[in-house]
Amino acid sequence: MGFERALFFPSGTMANQVALLLHLPRGSEVLAPEGAHLYEYELGAPALLAGALVRAVPAPGGVLDLEALKRAIRWGPFQAPTGLIALENTHNLAGGRVVPLEVQKAVQALAQAHGLPTHLDGARLFNAATFLGVEAKEVARGFTTLMVSLSKGLGAPVGSLLLLPNDLEAEARRYRKLLGGGLRQAGVLAAAGILALTEGPKHLKRDHALARALAEGLARLGLKVEPVETNMVYLEVPDPQGFLERLKAQGVLAGAVGGRVRFVTHQDLRDEDIPQALEAVYRALQSKAP
Ligand SMILES: Cc1ncc(COP(=O)(O)O)c(C=O)c1O
Repeated sequence: MGFERALFFPSGTMANQVALLLHLPRGSEVLAPEGAHLYEYELGAPALLAGALVRAVPAPGGVLDLEALKRAIRWGPFQAPTGLIALENTHNLAGGRVVPLEVQKAVQALAQAHGLPTHLDGARLFNAATFLGVEAKEVARGFTTLMVSLSKGLGAPVGSLLLLPNDLEAEARRYRKLLGGGLRQAGVLAAAGILALTEGPKHLKRDHALARALAEGLARLGLKVEPVETNMVYLEVPDPQGFLERLKAQGVLAGAVGGRVRFVTHQDLRDEDIPQALEAVYRALQSKAP
């Protein structure tokens, strides 16, 4: 992937937060696209661990607004100085949307001009690469650090990697150990991770096709479905929790994320699972309480 070192972590959350610890002086600020996992779903860890603020920068469709980003960079005597710019690709809360490589490059150039490091939350980096039709290392290029999950679309049961330059390795190992991520059992887990890295990416095109088929079917049922680029299908239903319970009763599991319903396709699905899931959605909608 073009980095000097890769460290195995039990989770993407831990790898992201160690990256923030590596980059952010206490009292500084990380700029991140609105909806970024590192502040929406990581329990306020930047405040607790790195002692840093997060400033969410407008990112329509998951893509950082460059003008807004420029305005957000701070160094004045009354402000928390910017210490890091982070991106997320694909952007989960924006619907698994892909950030174009030109945007990544523009953000990296801006960061460089201000002497700032960059971190990519690439939990689903291989999905972005598959959508763009490029190698994973093209999406990874130019970031100071990068987190990639082995345990999502790639199919390992557990694990994430933090990719980093040589000079950050010793500190990253220290923080990983401090947070309880220094595993004596890492070899067993890494074996599954190696399989995920070699075999996993081959399945992603199909995952994306299945997600598109699911989205088209849901739209035909009259549901409001967000645009699909990768393996996620987000939709709005009036009572997400009730809908999910009725869907579960039909044998299909999905999640509620950000007030919407989220389906994620994966390599263990059979082709016939999509029409079956649509049938289940239809029934769950029909069985709606009056
Ligand atoms: C974009 C993104 N980053 C980070 C994570 C955290 O990964 P983990 O669940 O392994 O802690 C997730 C998990 O869903 C995610 O979607």
